[in-house]
Amino acid sequence: MPLRSAGSGRLPSDPVHHPFFARYYARVSVGAETRWGMAGVRDRLLAGLSGRVIEIGAGNGLNFAHYPRTVAEVVAIEPERALRQLAVESALRSEVPVDVVPGAAEALPVKSEAFDAAVVSLVLCSVRDVPRALAEIRRVLRPGGVLRFFEHGRGGGAAMRFTQRALDRTVWPPLAGGCHLSRDPVAALREAGFELGPYRRVFMPEKGPRTPASFCVLGTAWRPAE
Ligand SMILES: C[S@@+](CC[C@H](N)C(=O)[O-])C[C@H]1O[C@@H](n2cnc3c(N)ncnc32)[C@H](O)[C@@H]1O
Repeated sequence: MPLRSAGSGRLPSDPVHHPFFARYYARVSVGAETRWGMAGVRDRLLAGLSGRVIEIGAGNGLNFAHYPRTVAEVVAIEPERALRQLAVESALRSEVPVDVVPGAAEALPVKSEAFDAAVVSLVLCSVRDVPRALAEIRRVLRPGGVLRFFEHGRGGGAAMRFTQRALDRTVWPPLAGGCHLSRDPVAALREAGFELGPYRRVFMPEKGPRTPASFCVLGTAWRPAE
């Protein structure tokens, strides 16, 4: 159960406030479902999940339609007000029950060990404090619980990596809602104590020229069973 009630209203201090990026992402992400094959990626990301799931940084809720019927309930955390409103609308159309809740990855407003699975897609690039966010995800997963991830990060040759770092130090985070291009999500998961399951490199878009945001990983990690 979320500790705070669900809703789309603005909190006294929303931890994330990117209204221009939110508007842009809401439009572009819908087109990417077909144009970039994101719908297929979301299917693969969520296939086989069951029980209680927490999705962190749910955005406009594009994952919701892809959860299998074996999922009993999704608690979807989204800190950005405009995206959260769209997520609430998406939740109403979803076949699995989805509760959209304000909050941030670094302080998840839910009880410990309450979830069988957690989902992050294109979120670890944007959180302010990756180790803290991953520690929170570990906290709310039951021992042996699964984390599914689809994240972009550093990749390509030396010139591409240099470009990613240069963009991260300058225009990219303010333009892209706090996103960073040169993070290493797989290393971050290992450092946070997750057991890495199978994961694979994915390019987004799959064909065509590589951009600094093209280098993605899609996979599974576990909170160790203890
Ligand atoms: C690129 S969007 C991805 C949205 C969605 N997960 C998807 O797959 O389409 C990044 C999302 O991360 C959210 N976000 C940013 N900082 C966050 C934080 N500290 N905690 C949780 N979510 C955050 C943003 O509000 C946004 O919804």
